[in-house]
Amino acid sequence: MAKQITGKWNIGVFDSGLGGLFLLRALTEKLPAYDYIYVGDTKRVPYSNRSPETVYEFTRAAVRYLFKNGCQLVVLACNTASALALRRLQQEFLPQQYPERRILGVLAPLVEAIEERHPRRIGVLATQATVNSHAITRELKKRVPGVTVFEHAAPLLVPMVESGELQWADAMLTAYIQPLLLQRVEGLALGCTHYPILKRRIRRIVGKDISVISQDEFLGKKLADYLMRHPEIEVLLGKRKKREFFVTDKTSTLEKRAQEWFGKNIKLKLIHL
Ligand code: DGL
Repeated sequence: MAKQITGKWNIGVFDSGLGGLFLLRALTEKLPAYDYIYVGDTKRVPYSNRSPETVYEFTRAAVRYLFKNGCQLVVLACNTASALALRRLQQEFLPQQYPERRILGVLAPLVEAIEERHPRRIGVLATQATVNSHAITRELKKRVPGVTVFEHAAPLLVPMVESGELQWADAMLTAYIQPLLLQRVEGLALGCTHYPILKRRIRRIVGKDISVISQDEFLGKKLADYLMRHPEIEVLLGKRKKREFFVTDKTSTLEKRAQEWFGKNIKLKLIHL
């Protein structure tokens, strides 16, 4: 394998839609110097009502695009893709095609953040596909002995957030969260990249005695820790503060949403995966 050139590679960030921009914002706030490329599969969002095989295929196509466009490291800023595709990508796709690149998911950092709070009863709000995979419960049970996990699917939240129609958000959130409150959970983990956008409303609904664990609040720190533990990857990364945004479908509504969630100057470029 050819020697990789230092200081030239991007960090790729992938989500099924635009919700991952919220996590990208958190990453760029914590680690502003690096060069980032974002891919949002806006043509095919939501992923959560699709089969694991399809989620794997879509995610692999996006990761391949990011690798071909100079990413050394890709963060799957999508819990559904992390639950359904990450392990297979790491075990099959990477060794065969890109053995020197890396793919990270967002479930492991979420599980670590829950573990740090040592809960006995934890609620998880996630997409139907993530809940069906039971990936979060499986990982938590390994790391937090005796924990009881209550997973609840919230299938309408992603389409609502992507469409920007938030006028029914409080009613919908209350209906989804109530069953978890009845289980007397001590914390509520948000297992979908779109949910941090609703964080304030969620905090209001659960009240101050229940902690809300939201990926935007620790993902930057987790990536910084990863880069510190992996100087061989860090040294390869460019630090010119480049930000590029690619989507598989582009409309004025999507551009408006991206500006709200990332910043006014964002320009979405259309790609085909
Ligand atoms: N952003 C994805 C996640 O974190 C969900 C969106 C989808 O269903 O495509 O789970």
